[in-house]
Amino acid sequence: MTDRRHQAAVRLTRADLDALPNYVPGRSPADLARELGLPEAIKLASNEVPYGPLPGVVEAVAEAVAGVHRYPDMGVVALRQALAERYGVDADRVATGCGSVALAEHLVRATCLPGDELVYSWRSFEAYPIIAATSGATSVQVPNDGGHGHDLATMAAAVTDRTRMILVCNPNNPTGTAVRRAELDRFLDAVPDDVLVVIDEAYREFVTDPEVPDGLSYADRPNVAVLRTLSKAWGLAGLRIGFLVAQPQVAAAVRKVVTPFSTSMAAQAGALAALAQADEVHRRCALVVAERERVGEALTKLVPGVPASQANFVWLPLGDRSVEFGKACESRGVIVRPFPGDGVRVTIGTPTENDAFLAAAEAALG
Ligand SMILES: Cc1ncc(COP(=O)(O)O)c(C=O)c1O
Repeated sequence: MTDRRHQAAVRLTRADLDALPNYVPGRSPADLARELGLPEAIKLASNEVPYGPLPGVVEAVAEAVAGVHRYPDMGVVALRQALAERYGVDADRVATGCGSVALAEHLVRATCLPGDELVYSWRSFEAYPIIAATSGATSVQVPNDGGHGHDLATMAAAVTDRTRMILVCNPNNPTGTAVRRAELDRFLDAVPDDVLVVIDEAYREFVTDPEVPDGLSYADRPNVAVLRTLSKAWGLAGLRIGFLVAQPQVAAAVRKVVTPFSTSMAAQAGALAALAQADEVHRRCALVVAERERVGEALTKLVPGVPASQANFVWLPLGDRSVEFGKACESRGVIVRPFPGDGVRVTIGTPTENDAFLAAAEAALG
């Protein structure tokens, strides 16, 4: 047993994990710039907002980290209270986590036993199948409709007595499409009361279509939970902080399964400082939206079937040409996010960054 070669042959981890796709981190812009001999490369691959941390955030985080020899407030009391006030709910309905991706996982852990079913549209956020598999839940993927959006009627019909949770990604990552109020109303009426519907609104702040409902307007339905993140519009991707609003017993169950102290001291302080900057967030989102419309319009001339986006990225349904297109953009110093065989997601950056991307796209496809 002490023989190392023998140990290498012994399986210590779950065999089913071999089938899971590895998380593919975006290319480092510094590496690409070095390779191309450019002063810098442009990263449009992770749906971040390009305008830096919000005013006051860096100072608040710096002040907080002076106390990092202590544990953070495990109850996240001040931040949950601030979120509750901002979104007009009681604080016992709010839970925070290490990014909303962690909260999605906690929700699955809080609702699904091994073999229970998790329904979601596909293609959608690439973390969903990984979360389902690692939690022992069974993924039920309902193909996106012809316009790259959720087919909510088929998703409702996919519910069985094993279904415990449904994810509605609105707007959908990576296609940018959004479900509207009338279809979401119909869907929520059709889903049984004992199935939790999680509306993942990581990109809510970029929505401009008035027919796309705010998930929080459904949060009084007992079986609805809303996921939000501070990573995108609020500029805190590197601090890892997301939150959910749900009924008190659902939020309490999530707080039970959450990794202890996973909302760090820096994240709590940074989030509180960011929440004080709502006007600046609106201003930045308006810049992103204006660029989204400009970039989207230019792309429709190059690629047929580009769906209208309600998020801070656009989707190019390039199918088999996706990887090649990604490489062509990289050769011009622009990192985008290809999904092999399906399409390419491109984050909206500054006007200069977007111009560089459009020039690369024109060269590759024009
Ligand atoms: C739809 C969706 N949900 C959740 C997340 C997770 O965001 P975070 O964990 O940074 O809060 C993302 C990030 O890309 C996303 O696209």
